[in-house]
Amino acid sequence: MRIIAIANQKGGCGKTTTSINFSACLNFLQKKVLLVDLDPQGHSTCGLGVKTPKGTPTLYDLLSPFQRAGPPVSQVIRSLQNDLDLIPCNASLNALEEEFGFMPHYHLKLRELMNRLAEEQRFYDFVILDCPPNLGVLTWNALNAADEIIIPIEPSFFSLHGLAKISETLQIVNRSRETPLLVHALLTIYNSQMNFSQEIYDEVRAHFQNRLFTTIIHDHISLKEAAAAGQSIAQYAPQSQAFQDYLNLAVEYLERDWNRKLPEKELGWEKVYKNHFGPRQISDGILFQFFSKIASSVEIAGDFNHWIPEPLVKRNQEGLWQRVIPVQLKTFRYKFIVDGEWQVDPSQPMQKENAYGGVDSYMEFA
Ligand SMILES: Nc1ncnc2c1ncn2[C@@H]1O[C@H](COP(=O)(O)OP(=O)(O)O)[C@@H](O)[C@H]1O
Ligand SMILES: [Mg+2]
Repeated sequence: MRIIAIANQKGGCGKTTTSINFSACLNFLQKKVLLVDLDPQGHSTCGLGVKTPKGTPTLYDLLSPFQRAGPPVSQVIRSLQNDLDLIPCNASLNALEEEFGFMPHYHLKLRELMNRLAEEQRFYDFVILDCPPNLGVLTWNALNAADEIIIPIEPSFFSLHGLAKISETLQIVNRSRETPLLVHALLTIYNSQMNFSQEIYDEVRAHFQNRLFTTIIHDHISLKEAAAAGQSIAQYAPQSQAFQDYLNLAVEYLERDWNRKLPEKELGWEKVYKNHFGPRQISDGILFQFFSKIASSVEIAGDFNHWIPEPLVKRNQEGLWQRVIPVQLKTFRYKFIVDGEWQVDPSQPMQKENAYGGVDSYMEFA
């Protein structure tokens, strides 16, 4: 289980929007995800259409030192869809600021709660923490519970001012942690038409270097509309560019995750790709992936689309190409078309002869 805090003391930089949609896109890629709303404003909670009428247990009940035997975590967790859960909160969480003042080790309460998840047989691939816009006790708890932090930065003059403050905070947190927080930065609400966007991009890149995601979240009105409708962008507008941006982020994140976990790093990305890729069933269809740094176009054709090629999208400089075909099939034949040349899938070995004396790639899901 990896715990990722989405934090920046500045308000309005896209923390909540990123928490909701990054969670939804990790879930779209078949990960089991828990989103924890740590901001007493409850924006992740209402942005996902979840209500917390009086008497419903929320994150407050799990963390408050005055709730001696708090409810089981399972009673507070709300299931949004298959493998995507939320721990909601509301304004009651504000009280913790004061209540924690009476406690020793108050900054480790969220970490203790995370440990309780496994005790209650709740297992997740990722826990995403949507932090409030300040560096108070809740954010402090998040930075002590998390393995990693994603810092959303929206291009404005003021956002650059905050970077020094964040770096200072991270240094302080790291002093009391066993392993330092892994830092990622993400540009959000990016409008390339604005004159200073490029300048800000350069400055953020200089500050974070390769810890800045290559993926940029652009300014999309559909993200506001999705929040108003109480839905993630994956539910609200799966065809939108906004969904594509957040899906790109999830894919880039998972690639970084792999690179980090691989002991035999010299193996190279290409071999890793060959061992791990091939078509995958995801919630809305089948994800096709192809690896080529040099191709200028990659398409997919198979019996599911009557062999009419459809283009894959190039995700990154490493040469990852992807496309989701919205079908649910157990078996199918397919081929990739790389710069106009038809070829079988190099990343999975199953093939079948076709009527024309050649072979097609063949997939059979268990
Ligand atoms: N990429 C984006 N494009 C357009 N609007 C966005 C984008 N990201 C966030 N917003 C909007 O900006 C406002 C602040 O975003 P939010 O995610 O709530 O920030 P934070 O949680 O950091 O305060 C919200 O109204 C949200 O809908
Ligand atoms: Mg927020």
